[in-house]
Amino acid sequence: MDKIQHGYDFGGAAFNLNDPQDRELVRFILSQALFGEATGVYCGKSLFAARSLEAARFYVRQARQELNHLELFAEVFRSLNMTPAPAHWVVKLLSAHNNYYPLKVLMEHAIGEGMVLDIFKDVLLQTLPDDHPAVPEIKKKLRVVVREEEEHVAWGEKETRAMLAERPWLRWPYYGLLELQIVLARLMVRPFARRAEGHPVLSHLGPFVDFVSARIRQQGRDLGITPEAPVGAVKRLGAMAWGVALFLRSQVSTSRSTLEKTYLTELGFVG
Ligand SMILES: [Fe+2]
Ligand SMILES: [Fe+2]
Repeated sequence: MDKIQHGYDFGGAAFNLNDPQDRELVRFILSQALFGEATGVYCGKSLFAARSLEAARFYVRQARQELNHLELFAEVFRSLNMTPAPAHWVVKLLSAHNNYYPLKVLMEHAIGEGMVLDIFKDVLLQTLPDDHPAVPEIKKKLRVVVREEEEHVAWGEKETRAMLAERPWLRWPYYGLLELQIVLARLMVRPFARRAEGHPVLSHLGPFVDFVSARIRQQGRDLGITPEAPVGAVKRLGAMAWGVALFLRSQVSTSRSTLEKTYLTELGFVG
């Protein structure tokens, strides 16, 4: 297996799993991961609205992978002798299933799983201490999860591009939602900033959050969502409001089935 490329460098900083406060921090991170994986399994619901055979194939595969991730994180808890805590409200909000496909592929896969990847790949793989007996095995499993999450992000980006090509008006609400997801992520980690001083890992929190925000904005530029030129505050707020409106609308939208209308074309029986 080739080496995982880290985005942010924690410079060898690691948690101390013998320290009760550090254990609480690791428990917090792992609890969010466990909840995210549980809701990840619901991507199976997307099978109903899958717009192509390729999408149907992807969601079957993803649901199986997320179910494995869920059980794997449960094993991580057991091997570290920890019990999961309830999920943070931001994680609950961001990982809720969305029936509206254009928002689902951007918010859940491209950005949401992109942030999950930042946590797994950059935080957990670097800051879990290698001298703990359970950690080498945990990291081995995590590397497999990271590869699969990379696939989920790539799928989200591919489908986001397709949605944008079909409906170019989505660009501004997409941009607003991307900025909002950055705001929410910052909000979630803010309580930890107070404890950052002098802590080997937490002292990286500010720079790490800045790194993630910049990475998401670059992802947005690569997808053709984030404008190249700086955006004024009013325009950005407008995009956010549009994004929120679309998100609220998506909460009452019901998914429409597709495959029974397209299967003959998808299978090559109709030209
Ligand atoms: Fe996962
Ligand atoms: Fe995933």
